[in-house]
Amino acid sequence: MEKILVLDFGGQYNQLIARRVRDHGVYAEILPYTTPLETIKENHYKGIIFTGGPNSVFEMSSPHYAKEILDIGVPILGICYGCQLVAWMAEGEVETAPVSEYGKIELTIENSAIFKDIPEKSIVWMSHTDRISKAPEGFDVIGKTDDCPCAAMQNVEKNIYAVQFHPEVTHSEYGNVVLHNFLYEVCHCSGDWQMDNFIETTVEKLRNQIGDKNVILGLSGGVDSSVAAGLLSRAVGKQLTCVFVDQGLMRKDEGDFVENTFTSLFDMNFVRVNCGEQFLAKLKGVTDPEQKRKIIGTEFFNVFWDEIRKQADKGYFAQGTIYPDCIESGKGDADVIKTHHNRVNLPDDVEFLGVIEPLADLFKDEVRKVGEKLGIPKELVWRQPFPGPGLGVRIIGELTAEKIKVLQEADWVLRDEMAKNGYEKNLAQFFCVLPGVQTVGVMGDHRTYDNLIAIRAVTTDDFMTADWAKIPYDILAKVSNRITNEVEHVNRVVYDITSKPPGTVEWE
Ligand code: XMP
Repeated sequence: MEKILVLDFGGQYNQLIARRVRDHGVYAEILPYTTPLETIKENHYKGIIFTGGPNSVFEMSSPHYAKEILDIGVPILGICYGCQLVAWMAEGEVETAPVSEYGKIELTIENSAIFKDIPEKSIVWMSHTDRISKAPEGFDVIGKTDDCPCAAMQNVEKNIYAVQFHPEVTHSEYGNVVLHNFLYEVCHCSGDWQMDNFIETTVEKLRNQIGDKNVILGLSGGVDSSVAAGLLSRAVGKQLTCVFVDQGLMRKDEGDFVENTFTSLFDMNFVRVNCGEQFLAKLKGVTDPEQKRKIIGTEFFNVFWDEIRKQADKGYFAQGTIYPDCIESGKGDADVIKTHHNRVNLPDDVEFLGVIEPLADLFKDEVRKVGEKLGIPKELVWRQPFPGPGLGVRIIGELTAEKIKVLQEADWVLRDEMAKNGYEKNLAQFFCVLPGVQTVGVMGDHRTYDNLIAIRAVTTDDFMTADWAKIPYDILAKVSNRITNEVEHVNRVVYDITSKPPGTVEWE
């Protein structure tokens, strides 16, 4: 498989660069700038992309790289900080720009392989305070803006290109063409990274690795574990056992849906552990959010591993870890490594032949593509994020079976109405919350004193920050009307208009 290296100098768009390259059909992997040159040489990359980064190249503490990388015969594309770094490494000059450029800027280009099919003037996205004041010897300036006389340069002989702007962001009008040109005009890639190939080769690899042994996978009903289950099932069928712990805190009918999907569509052993009552017993009288989360987490771990211990022939343990969980970051000190928070800790007393992570090379959007190709229903493949503690963090205060039922019914109405109005895809996440508050109402001339339901809906790219969604009033009105009419013990509906920060997406 052809590979592009995205050498990470701490830029905020490094994952986006790799995703864009993969969208063009070429596999890209991200490694920190501390990766030794020998490792890079051994990997036989078709091309290397230096990412952006927040530093100034002329500060000695900034991330740098051995100059020899410019002479190993592998094409290079420097982006933003990476562009300045190429200039600095090749002994050009970089200075603090008299005028910083942020946002959309007009770029004027000269003829170049990386600018094939791009007009002389176009809009690019800039974000820089330093600039190249003198291109290194052997480099031609091939792009400029009003405030940046060297916004792009090339050394055709060495196949080294550098652009001050960010081709990976959609605000750069022809950014995608720049990346395409680098991959196909400069690196001469063939485009062998396709999801069909991925499924075929992964299934083959899994078969070889697993042989006649068994595999156990914890299935949560989330996208990643579902797609991992689909792949493993295709590879080894009944040698796969999926353990699905239903703690009674999923959305309405979700447990049945997961079970029906996997037992009817896929060849595997499916073990469902229903432990709702056990969870509620443990949570009786508990109102503190953190304590609830802790109890749910611990109980889940215990139930799951108790079930696994029962499996006679354990073989391999599989999990749905995806690529962003595995990337070492190029930010800060050399030894800072991103926490692999999605990887399960195995208890000491359970032994496996090994751990299998069939999706460890994929970004989320690629996981979804694979899921669709494997025939996993859209509801699972495009599922919104759902917190591990489930409805447990959407019911404020003590959990009871009655409260769970009220919330499940109200949430179902919301989802149904959003789907009917085609509004589902516009939002990152929407759900109902039961704040545990009772209010006075009037229904059929009678006074009521019943539950309040809150609707939470957000737009966000990364869930680190979020805005409350501007759902049209008529949809909100319909949802409110249906919830109060159709869900017993609800007499009032409110809409949460808090962004994150200061709120969080979930209420607990
Ligand atoms: P917050 O509430 O922190 O949520 O703004 C951000 C995103 O994370 C999800 N979330 C969780 N996901 N386990 C998870 O797997 C959890 O304990 C958890 N808590 C919050 C939340 O739904 C939102 O998408």
